Amino acid sequence: MIAENETAGVRRRVYGRRRGRKLRAGRRALMATLLPHLGVELPAAGLVDPRALFPAASDVWLEIGFGAGEHLATQARAHSAVGLIGAEVFENGIAKLLAAIERERLANVRLFIDDARLLLARLPEASLGRAFILFPDPWPKERHKKRRIVATETLDRLARALRPGAELRLATDDPDYAAWMAAAVAAHPDFLELARGEGGWAGRPADWPPTRYEQKAVAAGRTPRFFRLARRG
Ligand SMILES: C[S@@+](CC[C@H](N)C(=O)[O-])C[C@H]1O[C@@H](n2cnc3c(N)ncnc32)[C@H](O)[C@@H]1O
Repeated sequence: MIAENETAGVRRRVYGRRRGRKLRAGRRALMATLLPHLGVELPAAGLVDPRALFPAASDVWLEIGFGAGEHLATQARAHSAVGLIGAEVFENGIAKLLAAIERERLANVRLFIDDARLLLARLPEASLGRAFILFPDPWPKERHKKRRIVATETLDRLARALRPGAELRLATDDPDYAAWMAAAVAAHPDFLELARGEGGWAGRPADWPPTRYEQKAVAAGRTPRFFRLARRG
């Protein structure tokens, strides 16, 4: 059960729909059989120890809002010694990642199937080596902007959970959100921009595969913006 004071900071919903098209039978079966083994549960009180989730891992990374999971699966494949926690609320995306985990026998992924901010609040200080929030819901309408997940409160929580020197990667294809992210990061005392390239924006890191959302954005003529930040020591 989640304490009342814990939900206080996350009362405002920051995600869109939880369900899309009806799941195919195979994916439904994975939700019923594989997810219970990989799901991360919040204890009634106290912290979630990422090291206990991945006892043999060299490090633990977190992706918030992994969508269909293609970036997370790529990272898990490329860094088999690292434990990856993926947080997502959209059932169809979760089922798709479960299918990749099963197909490729990825042994270093655990899933938190709820609002990532609840997990962030329960992670021990300096327990993560990297975090990703790629193409978060843009919430373009003025009255919805307060729902944007990249905001001071989330950056505060990330700053607590990330180790000094750990990397935070952000991306968006919405020019207004890009400016908003840049301002939020610049104003935050705990993050330092690692890379600024042409036009003042970071380029795509070689190990960062395009996500489904990004591919759609590019096909629609929008320009993705990438941020690479370091948790200050
Ligand atoms: C626009 S999609 C992008 C998905 C993926 N990162 C990509 O680039 O294709 C944003 C995703 O973040 C998820 N999301 C939004 N807020 C979240 C939260 N607080 N906790 C977990 N997932 C969240 C949504 O369900 C959605 O799947």
